[in-house]
Amino acid sequence: MENFSLTRSELVQLTADTFIISFNEWIDFEPIQFIMIETETSIVRKPFGLGRWNGKLAIGVQIIGPGTNYIVQQSVLEAHGPCGKGFVPPEGKGAMIATPACLPMALDLHKRYGCDVFIGSLEELSIEIPFPLVVGDEAFLNLLRSLEGYDWFLVIGSDQMEKISYDILKGKAEVFVSFNEYMACGIGACRGCAKETKNGLKHLCIDGPVLRGEEVWS
Ligand SMILES: Cc1cc2nc3c(=O)[nH]c(=O)nc-3n(C[C@H](O)[C@H](O)[C@H](O)COP(=O)(O)OP(=O)(O)OC[C@H]3O[C@@H](n4cnc5c(N)ncnc54)[C@H](O)[C@@H]3O)c2cc1C
Ligand code: FES
Repeated sequence: MENFSLTRSELVQLTADTFIISFNEWIDFEPIQFIMIETETSIVRKPFGLGRWNGKLAIGVQIIGPGTNYIVQQSVLEAHGPCGKGFVPPEGKGAMIATPACLPMALDLHKRYGCDVFIGSLEELSIEIPFPLVVGDEAFLNLLRSLEGYDWFLVIGSDQMEKISYDILKGKAEVFVSFNEYMACGIGACRGCAKETKNGLKHLCIDGPVLRGEEVWS
Protein backbone atom coordinates (compact mmCIF):
# COMPACT_ATOMS: atom_id res chain seq x y z
CA MET A 1 0.00 0.00 0.00
CA GLU A 2 1.56 3.27 -1.10
CA ASN A 3 0.70 6.88 -1.82
CA PHE A 4 1.67 7.97 -5.32
CA SER A 5 1.04 10.49 -8.10
CA LEU A 6 -0.24 9.32 -11.45
CA THR A 7 0.34 11.43 -14.56
CA ARG A 8 -2.09 11.04 -17.41
CA SER A 9 -0.83 9.46 -20.63
CA GLU A 10 -4.05 9.16 -22.63
CA LEU A 11 -7.73 10.03 -22.19
CA VAL A 12 -10.12 8.02 -24.36
CA GLN A 13 -13.80 8.87 -24.49
CA LEU A 14 -15.96 5.73 -24.84
CA THR A 15 -19.45 7.19 -24.47
CA ALA A 16 -20.97 10.52 -23.46
CA ASP A 17 -20.08 9.87 -19.80
CA THR A 18 -17.41 7.18 -19.78
CA PHE A 19 -13.65 7.53 -20.25
CA ILE A 20 -10.47 5.48 -20.01
CA ILE A 21 -7.48 7.19 -18.43
CA SER A 22 -4.05 5.59 -18.86
CA PHE A 23 -0.99 6.64 -16.88
CA ASN A 24 2.74 6.99 -17.43
CA GLU A 25 3.55 5.23 -14.15
CA TRP A 26 3.09 1.52 -13.37
CA ILE A 27 2.19 -0.04 -10.04
CA ASP A 28 1.89 -3.77 -9.49
CA PHE A 29 -1.61 -4.98 -8.72
CA GLU A 30 -3.74 -8.11 -8.68
CA PRO A 31 -6.88 -8.43 -10.82
CA ILE A 32 -9.79 -6.21 -9.69
CA GLN A 33 -7.75 -4.47 -6.98
CA PHE A 34 -8.46 -0.75 -6.86
CA ILE A 35 -6.90 2.60 -5.98
CA MET A 36 -8.38 5.38 -3.86
CA ILE A 37 -8.12 8.69 -5.74
CA GLU A 38 -8.13 12.12 -4.10
CA THR A 39 -10.49 14.74 -5.44
CA GLU A 40 -11.05 18.37 -4.50
CA THR A 41 -14.78 17.71 -4.29
CA SER A 42 -14.83 15.47 -1.22
CA ILE A 43 -12.76 14.81 1.88
CA VAL A 44 -12.82 11.08 1.14
CA ARG A 45 -10.95 9.44 -1.70
CA LYS A 46 -12.87 7.52 -4.37
CA PRO A 47 -12.29 3.89 -5.44
CA PHE A 48 -11.45 2.93 -9.06
CA GLY A 49 -10.58 -0.54 -10.36
CA LEU A 50 -7.10 -1.02 -11.82
CA GLY A 51 -6.43 -2.40 -15.25
CA ARG A 52 -4.50 -1.78 -18.41
CA TRP A 53 -4.90 0.03 -21.68
CA ASN A 54 -2.38 -0.27 -24.54
CA GLY A 55 0.01 -1.90 -22.07
CA LYS A 56 -0.21 0.97 -19.59
CA LEU A 57 -1.77 1.21 -16.15
CA ALA A 58 -5.32 2.48 -16.60
CA ILE A 59 -8.70 3.08 -14.99
CA GLY A 60 -12.13 3.51 -16.52
CA VAL A 61 -14.29 6.34 -15.18
CA GLN A 62 -18.02 6.79 -15.58
CA ILE A 63 -19.00 10.34 -14.61
CA ILE A 64 -21.82 10.23 -12.11
CA GLY A 65 -21.04 13.13 -9.78
CA PRO A 66 -18.49 15.85 -8.96
CA GLY A 67 -15.63 13.49 -8.03
CA THR A 68 -15.66 11.52 -11.26
CA ASN A 69 -16.07 14.75 -13.22
CA TYR A 70 -12.99 16.15 -11.47
CA ILE A 71 -10.93 13.01 -12.13
CA VAL A 72 -11.35 13.05 -15.92
CA GLN A 73 -10.20 16.69 -16.04
CA GLN A 74 -6.91 16.27 -14.18
CA SER A 75 -3.52 15.57 -15.73
CA VAL A 76 -2.07 14.49 -12.35
CA LEU A 77 -3.93 12.43 -9.75
CA GLU A 78 -2.97 11.59 -6.18
CA ALA A 79 -3.91 8.12 -5.00
CA HIS A 80 -3.13 5.28 -2.67
CA GLY A 81 -3.29 1.56 -3.22
CA PRO A 82 -3.51 -1.05 -4.49
CA CYS A 83 -6.45 -1.85 -2.20
CA GLY A 84 -8.67 -4.89 -1.84
CA LYS A 85 -8.21 -8.59 -2.38
CA GLY A 86 -7.08 -9.69 -5.82
CA PHE A 87 -9.61 -11.86 -7.62
CA VAL A 88 -8.38 -15.38 -8.36
CA PRO A 89 -10.88 -17.21 -10.57
CA PRO A 90 -11.72 -20.83 -9.87
CA GLU A 91 -10.73 -23.58 -12.32
CA GLY A 92 -12.65 -23.85 -15.54
CA LYS A 93 -14.10 -21.65 -18.23
CA GLY A 94 -15.07 -18.19 -17.08
CA ALA A 95 -16.55 -14.97 -18.33
CA MET A 96 -16.53 -11.40 -17.09
CA ILE A 97 -19.64 -9.34 -17.70
CA ALA A 98 -19.00 -5.64 -17.32
CA THR A 99 -19.90 -2.08 -18.22
CA PRO A 100 -17.66 0.09 -20.46
CA ALA A 101 -15.95 1.76 -17.46
CA CYS A 102 -14.60 -1.70 -16.55
CA LEU A 103 -12.77 -2.22 -19.86
CA PRO A 104 -9.26 -1.71 -18.38
CA MET A 105 -10.03 -4.28 -15.64
CA ALA A 106 -11.48 -6.65 -18.23
CA LEU A 107 -8.41 -6.38 -20.47
CA ASP A 108 -6.20 -7.22 -17.50
CA LEU A 109 -8.29 -10.20 -16.37
CA HIS A 110 -8.52 -11.51 -19.94
CA LYS A 111 -4.75 -11.22 -20.40
CA ARG A 112 -3.98 -13.00 -17.12
CA TYR A 113 -6.62 -15.75 -17.21
CA GLY A 114 -7.82 -15.96 -20.81
CA CYS A 115 -11.47 -15.64 -19.73
CA ASP A 116 -14.17 -14.42 -22.07
CA VAL A 117 -15.42 -10.85 -21.65
CA PHE A 118 -18.82 -9.39 -22.55
CA ILE A 119 -19.47 -5.66 -22.35
CA GLY A 120 -23.00 -4.32 -21.87
CA SER A 121 -23.53 -0.65 -22.65
CA LEU A 122 -26.49 1.69 -22.86
CA GLU A 123 -24.84 3.44 -25.83
CA GLU A 124 -22.63 2.50 -28.77
CA LEU A 125 -18.94 2.97 -28.03
CA SER A 126 -16.80 5.46 -29.92
CA ILE A 127 -14.01 2.89 -30.46
CA GLU A 128 -13.67 -0.76 -31.47
CA ILE A 129 -13.06 -3.12 -28.55
CA PRO A 130 -11.69 -6.67 -28.63
CA PHE A 131 -14.74 -8.12 -26.83
CA PRO A 132 -18.38 -8.74 -27.78
CA LEU A 133 -20.50 -5.65 -27.04
CA VAL A 134 -24.26 -5.53 -26.54
CA VAL A 135 -26.08 -2.21 -26.54
CA GLY A 136 -29.32 -1.58 -24.65
CA ASP A 137 -31.21 -3.34 -21.87
CA GLU A 138 -33.01 -5.90 -24.02
CA ALA A 139 -29.83 -6.98 -25.80
CA PHE A 140 -28.09 -7.26 -22.43
CA LEU A 141 -30.82 -9.50 -21.01
CA ASN A 142 -30.70 -11.67 -24.13
CA LEU A 143 -26.93 -11.97 -23.76
CA LEU A 144 -27.24 -13.09 -20.13
CA ARG A 145 -29.88 -15.67 -21.03
CA SER A 146 -27.73 -17.01 -23.87
CA LEU A 147 -24.56 -17.62 -21.83
CA GLU A 148 -24.04 -21.37 -21.37
CA GLY A 149 -21.11 -23.70 -20.75
CA TYR A 150 -19.28 -21.57 -18.20
CA ASP A 151 -17.95 -22.62 -14.78
CA TRP A 152 -17.85 -19.10 -13.35
CA PHE A 153 -18.93 -15.55 -14.05
CA LEU A 154 -17.61 -12.27 -12.67
CA VAL A 155 -20.03 -9.34 -12.86
CA ILE A 156 -18.88 -5.72 -12.45
CA GLY A 157 -21.06 -2.70 -13.10
CA SER A 158 -23.87 -0.78 -11.47
CA ASP A 159 -25.82 -2.23 -8.52
CA GLN A 160 -28.88 -2.77 -10.68
CA MET A 161 -26.98 -4.41 -13.54
CA GLU A 162 -25.20 -6.72 -11.08
CA LYS A 163 -28.40 -7.90 -9.38
CA ILE A 164 -30.14 -8.57 -12.71
CA SER A 165 -27.09 -10.47 -13.94
CA TYR A 166 -26.87 -12.50 -10.74
CA ASP A 167 -30.53 -13.49 -10.89
CA ILE A 168 -30.20 -14.76 -14.45
CA LEU A 169 -26.77 -16.38 -14.13
CA LYS A 170 -26.93 -17.96 -10.66
CA GLY A 171 -28.40 -21.25 -11.87
CA LYS A 172 -25.77 -21.65 -14.59
CA ALA A 173 -22.43 -21.34 -12.77
CA GLU A 174 -20.71 -19.78 -9.78
CA VAL A 175 -21.30 -16.02 -9.90
CA PHE A 176 -18.84 -13.55 -8.38
CA VAL A 177 -19.84 -9.91 -7.98
CA SER A 178 -17.71 -6.81 -7.33
CA PHE A 179 -19.84 -4.91 -4.83
CA ASN A 180 -20.18 -1.13 -5.10
CA GLU A 181 -20.05 0.01 -1.50
CA TYR A 182 -19.19 3.58 -0.57
CA MET A 183 -15.59 3.66 0.61
CA ALA A 184 -13.70 6.25 2.60
CA CYS A 185 -10.32 4.84 3.66
CA GLY A 186 -9.90 1.74 1.48
CA ILE A 187 -7.72 0.07 4.12
CA GLY A 188 -10.11 -1.38 6.68
CA ALA A 189 -9.87 1.52 9.15
CA CYS A 190 -13.14 3.47 8.88
CA ARG A 191 -15.64 0.58 8.75
CA GLY A 192 -17.53 2.57 6.13
CA CYS A 193 -17.79 -0.25 3.59
CA ALA A 194 -19.31 -2.89 5.87
CA LYS A 195 -21.67 -5.33 4.12
CA GLU A 196 -23.96 -7.91 5.71
CA THR A 197 -23.30 -11.35 4.26
CA LYS A 198 -24.45 -14.85 5.12
CA ASN A 199 -20.99 -15.37 6.63
CA GLY A 200 -21.12 -12.26 8.83
CA LEU A 201 -20.12 -8.67 8.33
CA LYS A 202 -17.50 -8.11 5.59
CA HIS A 203 -15.52 -4.97 4.89
CA LEU A 204 -15.43 -4.76 1.15
CA CYS A 205 -12.18 -2.78 0.95
CA ILE A 206 -10.24 -5.62 2.58
CA ASP A 207 -12.50 -8.71 2.26
CA GLY A 208 -13.59 -7.73 -1.28
CA PRO A 209 -14.54 -5.96 -3.42
CA VAL A 210 -15.40 -9.32 -5.05
CA LEU A 211 -17.60 -11.75 -3.13
CA ARG A 212 -19.64 -14.75 -4.23
CA GLY A 213 -23.09 -13.42 -5.13
CA GLU A 214 -24.72 -16.13 -3.03
CA GLU A 215 -22.96 -14.80 0.09
CA VAL A 216 -25.07 -11.64 -0.20
CA TRP A 217 -28.16 -12.55 -2.23
CA SER A 218 -30.38 -15.63 -2.25
C1 LIG B 1 -14.26 -1.15 -5.29
C2 LIG B 1 -14.86 -0.12 -6.22
C3 LIG B 1 -14.31 0.05 -7.49
C4 LIG B 1 -14.84 1.01 -8.34
N1 LIG B 1 -14.28 1.12 -9.58
C5 LIG B 1 -14.81 2.02 -10.44
C6 LIG B 1 -14.26 2.12 -11.75
O1 LIG B 1 -13.31 1.41 -12.14
N2 LIG B 1 -14.80 3.05 -12.58
C7 LIG B 1 -15.86 3.84 -12.19
O2 LIG B 1 -16.31 4.66 -13.00
N3 LIG B 1 -16.40 3.75 -10.96
C8 LIG B 1 -15.89 2.87 -10.08
N4 LIG B 1 -16.42 2.79 -8.82
C9 LIG B 1 -17.50 3.73 -8.42
C10 LIG B 1 -16.87 5.10 -8.14
O3 LIG B 1 -15.99 5.02 -7.05
C11 LIG B 1 -17.99 6.10 -7.84
O4 LIG B 1 -18.75 6.26 -9.01
C12 LIG B 1 -17.42 7.45 -7.46
O5 LIG B 1 -16.82 7.38 -6.20
C13 LIG B 1 -18.52 8.51 -7.47
O6 LIG B 1 -17.96 9.73 -7.08
P1 LIG B 1 -18.62 11.12 -7.53
O7 LIG B 1 -18.05 12.17 -6.63
O8 LIG B 1 -18.51 11.31 -8.99
O9 LIG B 1 -20.14 10.94 -7.25
P2 LIG B 1 -20.95 11.15 -5.82
O10 LIG B 1 -21.29 12.61 -5.76
O11 LIG B 1 -20.13 10.55 -4.74
O12 LIG B 1 -22.17 10.31 -6.14
C14 LIG B 1 -23.15 10.63 -7.12
C15 LIG B 1 -24.23 9.58 -7.03
O13 LIG B 1 -23.70 8.32 -7.50
C16 LIG B 1 -24.07 7.26 -6.65
N5 LIG B 1 -22.84 6.62 -6.14
C17 LIG B 1 -21.74 7.23 -5.68
N6 LIG B 1 -20.79 6.36 -5.32
C18 LIG B 1 -21.31 5.16 -5.56
C19 LIG B 1 -20.83 3.85 -5.37
N7 LIG B 1 -19.63 3.55 -4.86
N8 LIG B 1 -21.63 2.84 -5.72
C20 LIG B 1 -22.83 3.08 -6.22
N9 LIG B 1 -23.35 4.30 -6.41
C21 LIG B 1 -22.61 5.32 -6.08
C22 LIG B 1 -24.95 7.83 -5.59
O14 LIG B 1 -26.30 7.59 -5.98
C23 LIG B 1 -24.69 9.29 -5.60
O15 LIG B 1 -25.83 10.03 -5.27
C24 LIG B 1 -15.94 1.82 -7.93
C25 LIG B 1 -16.50 1.64 -6.66
C26 LIG B 1 -15.98 0.68 -5.82
C27 LIG B 1 -16.59 0.48 -4.47
S1 FES C 1 -13.48 1.90 3.25
FE1 FES C 1 -12.84 2.22 5.31
S2 FES C 1 -13.08 0.23 6.16
FE2 FES C 1 -13.51 -0.08 4.10
